Formats: sequence, structure tokens, C-alpha cells
Amino acid sequence: MGSMTADTVRRLPKAELHLHLDSGFEVEDAVRLAEENGVPLLKEPPDAMFDWEDLQEFLTFLDWVLCLPRNAEQVASLSYSVARRQGRSGVSYTDLMVSPIHWKNFDGPLEEFIAAVASGLTDAERDGHPPVYLSVSISRKHSRAEAHAVLDTMLAMQHPRVVALSIDGNEALVGRTGDRFAPVFKRARAAGLGIRAHAGESSGPEGVWDAIDLLKTQRVDHGVRSVEDPELVEELVERGIFLNVCPWSNVLLGLYPSREVHPIRTLVDAGARVTLNTDGSGFYRITLEDEYVTASEVYGWSTDVVRRLARTSVEASFCPDPLRAELLASIDAFDFDS
Ligand code: ADE
Ligand code: ZN
Repeated sequence: MGSMTADTVRRLPKAELHLHLDSGFEVEDAVRLAEENGVPLLKEPPDAMFDWEDLQEFLTFLDWVLCLPRNAEQVASLSYSVARRQGRSGVSYTDLMVSPIHWKNFDGPLEEFIAAVASGLTDAERDGHPPVYLSVSISRKHSRAEAHAVLDTMLAMQHPRVVALSIDGNEALVGRTGDRFAPVFKRARAAGLGIRAHAGESSGPEGVWDAIDLLKTQRVDHGVRSVEDPELVEELVERGIFLNVCPWSNVLLGLYPSREVHPIRTLVDAGARVTLNTDGSGFYRITLEDEYVTASEVYGWSTDVVRRLARTSVEASFCPDPLRAELLASIDAFDFDS
């Protein structure tokens, strides 16, 4: 186990599937944007802004900080910054989410906003940073009509970097919304977009059931509270559903008191297809390699398990098929001891 250093994990080819632009850029970028816009910080010292009691406090902070970027250039520079961070962690491919509902002061229509995010990613890839593709998120707070309108924009754009529809937000606050959004997800699927859904974090197992049965997603973001329903865990294994798990995010936002009691080990042991992710590496001040190193220490995972986690991340990703094949081959050939 001694070989599982951050450096080893950086060399291991892998994808990150659960990362939000909304919380993935650097803390310094947020502070600089506030200064540029003459907006007083929410709390002083700046570090105090990054202490949250729970998901809701965190989402409220996002609403504040994401009011700062106003134009396409600022937005593109933030998505560029995320792609660069991914390169530093040795992430070969990223499915990045962005949730437009938070970016209230962007001066332009939704399609300009999405195009700005995408252009930062395209510029980054051109400069040699790893490929990052985009999932556009609707919010659990949206009405069905608002969600359809976001999808309308995505479909009208036909942007090659926009590959999936996603949903996030606080389910504990709004209750069950599977029925509300099922027709929107159905339309996205029919149009050939990938789909993914946050569930089983601010919702219990019922949110995961709704995500797989009503939204019909193969990819659940978090999904960890599935362990509260053994029948659900069996179903997830049976159907080969991917759970894109973010252990540190769950501890940081108060879902579990520690890594030791986090249910990821139970899910892996049950045979669920689990991946490791940061959720918001910038604001959570963690790296993907830390997630791998800490998990292998805390759960005593062998290199076989770590290789499987990396493999699963690539299998589950929305990356182009030739890249998927290439990454899987290099994961299989990876030498943990070199
Ligand atoms: N949006 C950003 N992060 C989120 C999380 N952890 N849960 C639900 N919605 C989110
Ligand atoms: Zn998330």
C-alpha cells in the first residue's frame, strides 16, 4: 500500500465525473472577482467564507459568489482554470457540470453563457490541458417549463462540447421531483444527450429510486444514501448503475461525520460501480489525487481496487469512444510500482 502516493495517482489515467464548475474553480479567483467588482466579501477573513454547516449554507454561498462573474470573458477564464486544475491532478478526461441558475448576473442569454463556459474549455484543450466536456444542470427548484426551456437551449445550440443534461440542488428542501422532471429527461435521452442526476445525498434512497426509475439515468451523482435500502443496493448492482461518489464533499457538508463511517466501502464491497470524485475541488480545497490516496488509506484498498475505480470512471464517462478505449488500455497497462 506504500506505493499509493499522490504522485502515483497523478500518473494513473482516470476520469473525474462529478465536478461542478460552480465550485470547481480556485478560491483565489473568487476573491479576485469580488475585488474587481468592488463587492465586499461575504465574510472576513476570506477563508471564513469557505466554512459551511451543510449543503444549504454551501448553496447559498454559491448564489453569492456566482453573482460575481458578469461577462463571457470572466466565465471562460473560470472554466479554463478548472481544466488547468484537472491537468495538475493528472485527470485524463472530465465531465464538468454547470448550473446556470446560480450565475444570476451574467449579462446575456443562456446560450451565450453556455458558449462562454465551453470556449474556456476549448481554449484550455488547445493549450494542452486535458479534455473537459460539459453537462448543463437544471435545478430541483426549477419548474418543469423552466427545465424544458434550458433543454431547448441546449438542443438548439448543438454544441459539440455539451454532452449531457444534469440535475442538482437541495432535494431535502423541495421534496420528490422525479415526476416533475421525467418528461424533460425523456426528451434529452431521445435527443441523444447523456443524462445524469444528483440523488441520495440531500435525498434518501427514494431519490435514487426516482433517478433510476423516473429519470431513467445510468449515472447517479452521489447516491451514497442508497445504503439505507439494501434492496436498492441490489438493484443498483443488478442494473450496473454508476455512483459518482464524493467522500470529502459529504464529510465537509455534514452528511457523514468522518471518512471512516462513509458508506463508500459498503457500496464497493456490495459490487456497485463506484467512482471517486471531488464535487468541487476548488472551493472544497481538495484534489482528486487526495481522494484516491485517502480512500486507499482509510479503506485499505489494494491497487486492484484503485485500478478498478479508475477503470469505472472511464467506462461511466461521456467521453468520445476512441479516447475511452485508449484510456482503458493505459489503465490496464499502468504499473503502480514504476
Ligand atoms: N450543487 C452543487 N453541489 C451540490 C451538491 N453537493 N448537492 C446538490 N446540488 C449541488
Ligand atoms: Zn455535486
